[in-house]
Amino acid sequence: METKPEFLLEATDIRKTFGKGDRAVKAVDGISVKIKKGKTLGVLGESGSGKSTFGRCILRLIEPDAGKIMFDGKDISALSQSEFRPNRRNLQMIFQNPFSSLNPKMSVGEAVEDPMRIWGIGDKAVRKKRVSELLDMVGINPRRAAAYPYEFSGGQQQRINIARALSLDPKFIVCDEAVSALDVSIQAQIVNLLMDLQKQLGLTYLFISHNLGVVEYLADDVLIMQHGKPVEYAPTEEIFKNPRSEYTRNLIASVPAMPTVAQLDEKSAKAAEKLARGKGGSLTGAAAR
Ligand SMILES: Nc1ncnc2c1ncn2[C@@H]1O[C@H](COP(=O)(O)OP(=O)(O)OP(=O)(O)O)[C@@H](O)[C@H]1O
Ligand SMILES: [Mg+2]
Repeated sequence: METKPEFLLEATDIRKTFGKGDRAVKAVDGISVKIKKGKTLGVLGESGSGKSTFGRCILRLIEPDAGKIMFDGKDISALSQSEFRPNRRNLQMIFQNPFSSLNPKMSVGEAVEDPMRIWGIGDKAVRKKRVSELLDMVGINPRRAAAYPYEFSGGQQQRINIARALSLDPKFIVCDEAVSALDVSIQAQIVNLLMDLQKQLGLTYLFISHNLGVVEYLADDVLIMQHGKPVEYAPTEEIFKNPRSEYTRNLIASVPAMPTVAQLDEKSAKAAEKLARGKGGSLTGAAAR
């Protein structure tokens, strides 16, 4: 009989360096985390501290240079890309800019159906029914499935991205600044949606954010990163009540200005370019300036 592992995800000593020689950047420099099923690990740290790179490494969206990733009892870091591929559907990601995450030429119904089509799940009728269920689950009227992304607000677009991420019934989702681009009131709605879905579906999250308040609200544990290294890693309450490092105290003391969707739209060309380069999630600085 197979026993369930204590942790859904266990990453050990993950490392990733970009560039060579003098220009080498140790983006992730020995990060280890353990996340139980149904729990959320929040990741905080200044811009460039390696949060997104870490998130991408554990999903194998980029290949780490070193480290071990156990997912649901299986060592997914030891697999070749083709051996890993069947695991991909269990590991999804939600990005910062909801509009550039969606293909403007696809209706939102098509966008949510697309991963299922690619994976050969069900026939057209089955998938259509599932699209309606998913849209309903995230609070979008299924009757609007034929509408296009630009016809929705930023918050609604992020709901659609969440429906798309859920379409393959994943176990683990990396949310990389998933609410940072939204207006504050909308941020709260999306955070609550993510928490409801977590309860309902038993989802496990890695939640990357600049927003301390959001992380304090939803995370069970928190990892603080600086220059790719772990500064603190502890239960959320401990981090916020009794931050051990100066760096964490400074993070907690600083209240970063969050860009709104309108500000991001102004920078949309830049945003799209960054996402295309695989650097999603670091728009805060640019948009805030
Ligand atoms: N594809 C890449 N090529 C080269 N360097 C990269 C690449 N991706 C990230 N980096 C560098 O790695 C470091 C960590 O970047 P990363 O995007 O992971 O930080 P972050 O904590 O997510 O920052 P932010 O809060 O701004 O999103 C930075 O110095 C960044 O410039
Ligand atoms: Mg980032």
